[in-house]
Amino acid sequence: MAAVALKRTGQKMPLVGFGLWKVNRATCAETVYNALKAGYRLLDGAGDYGNEKEAGEGLRRAISDGIVKREDVFVTSKLWNTFHAHDHVKALAKKQLGLWGIDYFDLFLVHFPISLEYVDPSHRYPPEWWGDDKKVHLAKVPFQETWGAMEELVDEGLVKNIGVSNVQGSLLIDILRYAKYEPAVNQIELHPYLTQEPLIKLCGTLGIAITAYSSLGPQSYVELGADKGAKNLLEHDTIASIASKHSKSHAQVLLRWAVQQGLAVIPKSNNHDRLVQNLQVDAFQLSDAEIKEISSLNINLRLNDPADIDPRIAIFA
Ligand code: A2P
Repeated sequence: MAAVALKRTGQKMPLVGFGLWKVNRATCAETVYNALKAGYRLLDGAGDYGNEKEAGEGLRRAISDGIVKREDVFVTSKLWNTFHAHDHVKALAKKQLGLWGIDYFDLFLVHFPISLEYVDPSHRYPPEWWGDDKKVHLAKVPFQETWGAMEELVDEGLVKNIGVSNVQGSLLIDILRYAKYEPAVNQIELHPYLTQEPLIKLCGTLGIAITAYSSLGPQSYVELGADKGAKNLLEHDTIASIASKHSKSHAQVLLRWAVQQGLAVIPKSNNHDRLVQNLQVDAFQLSDAEIKEISSLNINLRLNDPADIDPRIAIFA
């Protein structure tokens, strides 16, 4: 399977991985087990997804059944916004490793460059944050503190690579000013409605690999997209006509468009046939003209911003 070598460690990160965002908790262990059996070698999780324990069960079952060895699987997890303070980073990483039942992550990402007040880990955000007190729940934790704690995780062998997610150019450049270990990966929303060319170029220059999320067009935000005049990417005429030329599915064309640009993708599916199909994007090639045609659908439509916490702190505003 195609892979990208990460800076500093040279470790290979598969270009197609299995995303755990919104994978049903009740069936997650089984889904992860089947994903590994189908050939996936990257699992992309996060504390925020609420299914790391079940994902770990699936992984450990696949290991004990001899389907994979631990070192064959690239496991990614992420640090949630309420745990950016130095002392919370290691506690969280250890807790998340415990949920997975493994002793290191291949990659640990800061989920959003936004530090919020610490809350009891059983809450994503406490309900009172949606009250009308008009308080902004930002924490006074500079990113440099969080990054230093991430680097300590590497030194202690808890994680092999560290990176960021949802980070734009100016912060990336700032991190380089103080980083002992530069970010290996930036995981960002990226699809034909949000092609992110300047950020791809910058990350290429800095040697930072990109993982694209919501490659199929963010289904979960489809109503929001419709408000902005965008129709479901999976049903777009341009994608449909290219797919029929190659006798591939619409989803495979969307994934191939990213992979052919050297971007990693992490599609998720709760459906086994779609899960298998999404892995099969190596066996065909889009022409340069087709890549360009798909890229020309860009309307800078960003559908994921943690503004659900508080609309006043939309970080991509
Ligand atoms: P399902 O899990 O039922 O397959 P997101 O936009 O949040 O990343 O989610 C991806 C969405 O795309 C999910 O709704 C998923 O639904 C759907 N999906 C995943 N793979 C395919 C595919 N190959 N064809 C069509 N839809 C897909």
